[in-house]
Amino acid sequence: MTTLIKGGTVVSATGSTAADVLVDGETIVALLAPGSTALGTITADTVIDATGKYVIPGGIDGHTHMQMPFGGTEASDTFETGTRAAAWGGTTTIVDFVVQAHGQRVQDQVALWHEKAGGNCAIDYAFHQIIGEVDAESLKAMDELIGEGITSFKLFMAYPGVFLSSDGQIVQAMQTAAGNGGLIMMHCENGSAIDVLVQQALERGETGPYFHGVTRPWQAEQEATHRAVMLADLTGAPLYVVHVSAKQALARIAEARDAGQNVFGETCPQYLYLSLEEQLGATSEQWGDLEGAKWVCSTPLRSRAEGHQDALWKYINTGDVTTVSTDHCPFCMKDQKEMGRGNFAKIPNGIGSVEHRMDLLYQGVHDGRISLEKWVDVCCTTPARMFGLYGRKGVIAPGADADIVVYDPKGHTSIGIGEGRTHHMNMDYSAWEGWEIDGHVDVVLSRGTVIKDESGYVGRKGHGQFVKRGLSQNLI
Ligand code: URP
Ligand code: ZN
Ligand code: ZN
Repeated sequence: MTTLIKGGTVVSATGSTAADVLVDGETIVALLAPGSTALGTITADTVIDATGKYVIPGGIDGHTHMQMPFGGTEASDTFETGTRAAAWGGTTTIVDFVVQAHGQRVQDQVALWHEKAGGNCAIDYAFHQIIGEVDAESLKAMDELIGEGITSFKLFMAYPGVFLSSDGQIVQAMQTAAGNGGLIMMHCENGSAIDVLVQQALERGETGPYFHGVTRPWQAEQEATHRAVMLADLTGAPLYVVHVSAKQALARIAEARDAGQNVFGETCPQYLYLSLEEQLGATSEQWGDLEGAKWVCSTPLRSRAEGHQDALWKYINTGDVTTVSTDHCPFCMKDQKEMGRGNFAKIPNGIGSVEHRMDLLYQGVHDGRISLEKWVDVCCTTPARMFGLYGRKGVIAPGADADIVVYDPKGHTSIGIGEGRTHHMNMDYSAWEGWEIDGHVDVVLSRGTVIKDESGYVGRKGHGQFVKRGLSQNLI
């Protein structure tokens, strides 16, 4: 089965060119001079007309949490619903986090995640490993996982008593990664400082969702980022700082990178567009002052007045923000976010965006904040390089998987719940309700199969396969 995507502009991280793309089975086999078929030299079983459109590598969302147990509940998207929503939005690979909490064995959790995802995904998927308890057994498992294609390990400086690792444990895990070639991913917030601020706020009667952000100030993020950078320097481990929202934390990452350290920053659409100001006083008929819980995530949304959003866009352009992922961690308002009525500390942390990342970042292209190539870079190509997928994923080149998106810059996407709007995640609200995007995901191919076209989602559960990752290809 061959497919020809013709007439479009192929956009890569380094440039854009008019070319037709020939797919044979699951693989891209050639980029052709436009109109080669007209010469009669090329025939294909299926032809997709991409005239006037961008042809880009399928999106890679390097940070998702499907059906993750968290805060006494579980993220509301299953691998089935979450990957289907991703497909709608032009994402063709996710890297999800296997969770090891205290008292659990890493390898048992890996087996559990394979069970949850296997046979259920619409798109390809890979795993990172959360190490919630650094001990001799989990350190040994880190070595084993490299050979199983799980080559990155997330540690937490936040959530004392749940996921937090002490500095000593972090050093041990970093030494292990420095030895086996793995990548350390770090949630950089000073958890014990935050816990004190949270307690004090609650005692003052400051219980609404807005105080989630106020009690997780940028200083707590910058301090932890600095500590992580220093411990990475000490041990020689590469460090990927997840979901960075504070401009001060990014300045520290940029400084480490300027000094030649293998340090990388990830941000998410919510930190680029949404702010604490919108959370302040948020209320609705349905949810009253719980409305602001829709945007409770950690790290938190930051103040627009402090200039974090503008700084994050700048750091995308300097390359210090290496990737833009979603940190997709959806919870419904009903029965889930609702758990935190009267106590913001009980609101499950997370925002769902897996469906909207490509569109939201394309809006940055439309608004002149980033180039077309940067869009592809941070959403597709660098995530592939960062997480050991490049060559097979993240690029339109002969030999790569035919994960391809045809994107219409003249199209339009209305995000939210309800008639004519785009929302396929298993959530009873959208954190992006009412957002209008100047662009549209027209067609999505996953390994050569069209899984989304103008009629909607046409993929199937079980099409997605587990992808064993190599070591990061993005290190100095
Ligand atoms: O609010 C968030 N980020 N929830 C998911 C867990 C994490 O720390 O990534
Ligand atoms: Zn985190
Ligand atoms: Zn996360």
